[in-house]
Amino acid sequence: MLFERVGDRGPYFGEFGGRFVPEALIAALDELDEEYSRAAADPAFAAELDRLQREYTGRPSILTEVPRFAEHAGGARVLLKREDLNHTGSHKINNVLGQALLTVRMGKKRVIAETGAGQHGVATATAAALMGLECTVYMGEVDTRRQALNVARMRLLGAEVVPVSTGTATLKDALNEAFRDWVAHVDDTHYVLGTVAGPHPFPAMVRDFHRTIGVEARAQVLERVGRLPDLVAACVGGGSNAIGIFHAFLDDPQVQLLGLEAAGDGVETGRHAASITGGVSGVLHGARSMILQDEDGQTLDSHSISAGLDYPGVGPEHAHLASIGRARYEPVTDDEAMEAFRLLCRTEGIIPAIESAHALAGALRAGRELGPEGVVLVNLSGRGDKDVDTAARYFGLVSDADLVASEAERVSGPVEQTEANGW
Ligand SMILES: Cc1ncc(COP(=O)(O)O)c(C=O)c1O
Repeated sequence: MLFERVGDRGPYFGEFGGRFVPEALIAALDELDEEYSRAAADPAFAAELDRLQREYTGRPSILTEVPRFAEHAGGARVLLKREDLNHTGSHKINNVLGQALLTVRMGKKRVIAETGAGQHGVATATAAALMGLECTVYMGEVDTRRQALNVARMRLLGAEVVPVSTGTATLKDALNEAFRDWVAHVDDTHYVLGTVAGPHPFPAMVRDFHRTIGVEARAQVLERVGRLPDLVAACVGGGSNAIGIFHAFLDDPQVQLLGLEAAGDGVETGRHAASITGGVSGVLHGARSMILQDEDGQTLDSHSISAGLDYPGVGPEHAHLASIGRARYEPVTDDEAMEAFRLLCRTEGIIPAIESAHALAGALRAGRELGPEGVVLVNLSGRGDKDVDTAARYFGLVSDADLVASEAERVSGPVEQTEANGW
């Protein structure tokens, strides 16, 4: 890649990336790096991944033009890359199938994963079932409540879901636990990291597995519109869906790349997850990147209505793209995202993931700037089934009595997985 510096702990993306991990993980990261390099050069690996993506995931994902939604975007043409239509309901499956195939190649029998919105956990549990691997998924306890449906899906697929109650009990804490498990079980376990963060080789490898999004979308827009889009918009948590769609356009300077970060209650309130807009350079989860950090170097708590964006860091390649000005990153508040969520539901009959609604909000803004001649491509990273409960509460679509009843069920706690019930 044009801006990687390979060093003893690299690759780096400019000053970001690298490897800042306990000694115990170095051998496992080296093994993964070597196996991935071998696999990437092996036509049989590419052919098997391609077969799975076509026959299992349902790729290529389609492109949908949304003219009624676009009326609210200054009349610009808006096209959605429909990663929500992938098997398991989000872009996460692209990466997981690649890493599951690598796990089998490395002769490991167990995978672990961290998950926020649950989509990466569901994708990992799915691939583990498909390939006969044991699977444990770490999930912040707060997220197990706001994404209870995905907890049930993972358990149905045979995975053990471990609720993490430390810290803010969200994605960052789930990552900490997953790293701890990996250190303890590194001989037989592969850590299927779910985004373009973490130590090398994860940011580059996960990006490569998602590049297909942009490669497909670029060709589809050219065919549909006859030219490249003016702007590509994607939400940024760790940044995997965004880097996946951005990469095919990096060498097209006329195409603006816009990453939308979760501003929660507003960046100025301090209750947000906008790591590039409101963060500083620091080290988190094995790599140098932009992170939310206080003056003593302590990681700050993040906040977002969307579990998948509720993370105080971002993948190092995004930090680099921001620093060189190739991509720009803007914050979107919870309220703006929910307004865009509502609009897509009402105007186009598509219920997006709340994460993806941040990208839609960015597209509305960008479209108004570009005007009627503009063409905006949006990565619709996931579908909103998992978010129906959150949205129903946000919009007051369920009665207070029903809320109390469902809250009472929540308090009784998540159903324990037992031998007896077979799940
Ligand atoms: C549907 C969806 N979109 C986006 C994200 C954010 O992750 P990333 O920034 O790695 O794409 C998630 C994470 O859980 C997700 O489930």
